[in-house]
Amino acid sequence: MGDKLCSDQIFDLYRNLIDKASGIQFSSANRVIFESKLRELLRIRKMTPMEYYRYLQHDSEEVKFFLDTLTTNLTSFFRNQSNWDSLIYEIIPDLMKKVGQQREIRIWSAGCSTGEEAYTLAMVFERTLQPGYTYKIIACDLSLKSLHTASEGLYAFDKTEKDVPPDFLNEFFDREADGYRVKPLIKNHIVFNYHNLMNPMHSGHFDLIVCRNVLIYFDKESFLKVIRQFYNDSMPYAYLILGHSETLFNLNTGFHLRKGKYGCYYVKEGILS
Ligand SMILES: C[S@@+](CC[C@H](N)C(=O)[O-])C[C@H]1O[C@@H](n2cnc3c(N)ncnc32)[C@H](O)[C@@H]1O
Repeated sequence: MGDKLCSDQIFDLYRNLIDKASGIQFSSANRVIFESKLRELLRIRKMTPMEYYRYLQHDSEEVKFFLDTLTTNLTSFFRNQSNWDSLIYEIIPDLMKKVGQQREIRIWSAGCSTGEEAYTLAMVFERTLQPGYTYKIIACDLSLKSLHTASEGLYAFDKTEKDVPPDFLNEFFDREADGYRVKPLIKNHIVFNYHNLMNPMHSGHFDLIVCRNVLIYFDKESFLKVIRQFYNDSMPYAYLILGHSETLFNLNTGFHLRKGKYGCYYVKEGILS
């Protein structure tokens, strides 16, 4: 192709850098997407591909900005209904028994993008938990732009009306001039944080980890590294929900597939060898 932005060698340098920094794998198949995003960055920074690569070696803040530009942040409220049904009818009732009322149920929305997943979790917990139980959601991403939207909690009319059932919309959102704003009633249960899944979380002991449509972009080694961290950062009975295209099949992770009535999810059991 005549309009390639980088030589194959420079593309490989970038691929390794991105993989090491975030776990995200760019293959030759999505090189065109990568190059169009890089082209835009180079225009802003007024650099050649090699100059920008060298610049990234010495500026960790720029690496954050670079990764933010490359991530795919597609998400929506109530994405994949079967996950929410599993939570309502199977997982939350069991967590109430396991955790009890002595402390809050701890949930991690890992790769939360612009926040819709975390807010859906909060709406579902709010509706399903019996009186006396409470919950806390830690929602993280490495995209600062997405986290800004998430913390703002203000969403466009059309998408919100399309994805959120009317009774949830009435109970959990306020209508404002620019869109629907999430009410403090659920917002106060969520902490949005910058966190790169390639690093350990250390605030562990989660009862439930939801990491959907994130690891699909990772190479196998990084994928396993993150799952191992989930194992270390969770309670012995913890639940793990992955995206529909992500699987732990044939991998020794300590999480076991449970085929529930509404869909599949993972439960932590056993000891890792
Ligand atoms: C496609 S979105 C999925 C959002 C949501 N979980 C869902 O399923 O709707 C993937 C998100 O993962 C984030 N992500 C990718 N690599 C990451 C990493 N190493 N650490 C934290 N977040 C990451 C991206 O920034 C993006 O916002």
